[in-house]
Amino acid sequence: MDLGFRGEVADLYHRYRRGYPPAVIDSLVESFGLTGDDTVVDLGCGTGQLALPIARQVRAVVGLDPEPDMLLRARRAADEQGVANVSWMIGADTDTPTLGRLLGDGTVGAVTIGQALHWMDHDRLFHTLAPLVRPGGGVAVLANGTPLWQQDTAWSRALRDVLEQWCGRKLTRTCGTDEESRRRYGTSLAAAGFEVHETGVDYTDELDLDRIVGSVYSALPVDELPAPDRRPSFAEQVRCALEPYAPFTEHVRVATLIGRTHAATS
Ligand SMILES: C[S@@+](CC[C@H](N)C(=O)[O-])C[C@H]1O[C@@H](n2cnc3c(N)ncnc32)[C@H](O)[C@@H]1O
Repeated sequence: MDLGFRGEVADLYHRYRRGYPPAVIDSLVESFGLTGDDTVVDLGCGTGQLALPIARQVRAVVGLDPEPDMLLRARRAADEQGVANVSWMIGADTDTPTLGRLLGDGTVGAVTIGQALHWMDHDRLFHTLAPLVRPGGGVAVLANGTPLWQQDTAWSRALRDVLEQWCGRKLTRTCGTDEESRRRYGTSLAAAGFEVHETGVDYTDELDLDRIVGSVYSALPVDELPAPDRRPSFAEQVRCALEPYAPFTEHVRVATLIGRTHAATS
């Protein structure tokens, strides 16, 4: 599997992708009753945007991702942050049955999937996760805002125009952040036996041009990154197109689908 999350993109992802605000982590802890005794699996962990803050709340985290460079960068970030309870493992959604054999049924407080479900077979995945999760635990599917070039603001539309011209194609992919995808995921979670509801955390952020350009690079497969000598001209095109629409205010909604198993009855 090669989605292009490797080489320089791992560093760009780590540097420019927004993390999750503490309120999102608090809401996961509350939804699944996570404690210092729990294990969490973060599937599609990337460079640790979710795995690292969650690790501070639980006993152990397994960060699973098919891209070795993302895992290496995540591991470095863990060292830098003094987080020592994450096991970084190479693997994809299709490896969760094997992981289940290692951990055992009913042993996991939560499986988190941040900005990654659109690459997975979610129907099959949710069924394989159900036995892994302890009573009252569950699965969380997080959409971390809307891609920068898909938002309903003048600067975002200007960015979309620049990118479409640069790539020579329409940019329509929403990476699972749209309502229709989330409805499908919710229906699929329910079909796998989870009780489903959605929560959201909203906040406003102010971006600068360096962040916007860096975030765009972090979303490109490594083979589509502009060559280093073309980057100044790319950044200049973005600056010229967006500057009339400054400030670059972004309204971020972190939408989280929570699928809970039934809590144990005594
Ligand atoms: C956009 S990043 C998300 C990283 C992080 N979870 C976040 O919330 O920012 C998507 C990650 O999913 C991983 N991925 C892609 N396909 C996957 C699959 N089938 N199973 C597990 N992870 C996958 C990619 O390698 C990448 O690191």
